Amino acid sequence: MRHLLGLQDLSPQEIEGILRTAAAIKAGDLNVSGSLRGRIVVTLFFEPSTRTRTSFELAARRMDAQVVHFDVGTSSVVKGESLLDTIYTLEAMGVDLLVVRHQASGAAHFISRHTGCAVVNAGDGMHEHPTQGLLDLFTIQEHKGCIEGLRVAIVGDILHSRVARSDLFGLTKLGAEVTLCGPSTLLPRDRSGEGSLPLHGVRITDSLDEALEGADVVIALRLQRERQQSGLIPSLAEYTRFWGIDASRLSRCKPDVLVMHPGPMNLGVEILPSAAYGPWSVIREQVTNGVYVRMAVLYHLLAKGGENQPQGITEAHGGATDRSLLPVGRR
Ligand code: NCD
Repeated sequence: MRHLLGLQDLSPQEIEGILRTAAAIKAGDLNVSGSLRGRIVVTLFFEPSTRTRTSFELAARRMDAQVVHFDVGTSSVVKGESLLDTIYTLEAMGVDLLVVRHQASGAAHFISRHTGCAVVNAGDGMHEHPTQGLLDLFTIQEHKGCIEGLRVAIVGDILHSRVARSDLFGLTKLGAEVTLCGPSTLLPRDRSGEGSLPLHGVRITDSLDEALEGADVVIALRLQRERQQSGLIPSLAEYTRFWGIDASRLSRCKPDVLVMHPGPMNLGVEILPSAAYGPWSVIREQVTNGVYVRMAVLYHLLAKGGENQPQGITEAHGGATDRSLLPVGRR
């Protein structure tokens, strides 16, 4: 079994190993074309995606895998077929690796326990999005050299964001000083016992100015309106007034601050054009790097083989299982 389910499962050395592979691929020092020849990769997205799905498909194609996109909306899922039967059906066709995005936290962990295919979590509900976390780390490392000691502000809808969780795991494992910032209704609620979130030493504030002071990196997050109950923010206009990132607010950061956003952006809500398209923005570089990082992940899972395999991506650990995913008889 070979999976990448979350950055929580990886050691700093394993994360650095994947980042090194991605850098070698990008620099042309590691030629991975042909390394997935004869392998079948399926992208299975129960939630919308532009960047993640396309970049996984491009990454797998550049490595000569056969790539199939499973179109959930026109599949037997709409006739009521369960998630597990869907997985069993794909497995029966000889699929090697499933890239899965699902609205339920724990879906990728659940699937990994019921299939012989490798599973990559491309976002499970509010839980994790490990390849986004890795590409964010990669982009920061490319610009700053080293992540240890950097001051990183993650701003916005922290509570509902799987990107925030994966970034937080990755950044803290590599020694960054992280500040989480947003309205108190969108910050982790129970600060003492916030599940598995590594909040020890992490600053949490509802003041954007405080979060931006001296920051080396600012990561803006989309308001996840599809995951929110109503009433969490007073109004979009007020949200933007207090937590919207624009060029003038960035003056509190270091002069060479990086502005990042995983996309898709709500322009004019959590980030304004002056920041999104300004000289500090590396948002499009994040997208470019996403292809290299996903090639590196596919390489570690399917191509590299054996002895140097990072432990954290060999086995599924923990993760909440949503029992509604099980066929009725097995709940
Ligand atoms: C993120 C996601 O789907 O979690 N997008 C992405 O993969 N680039 C962030 C978001 O949807 O806000």
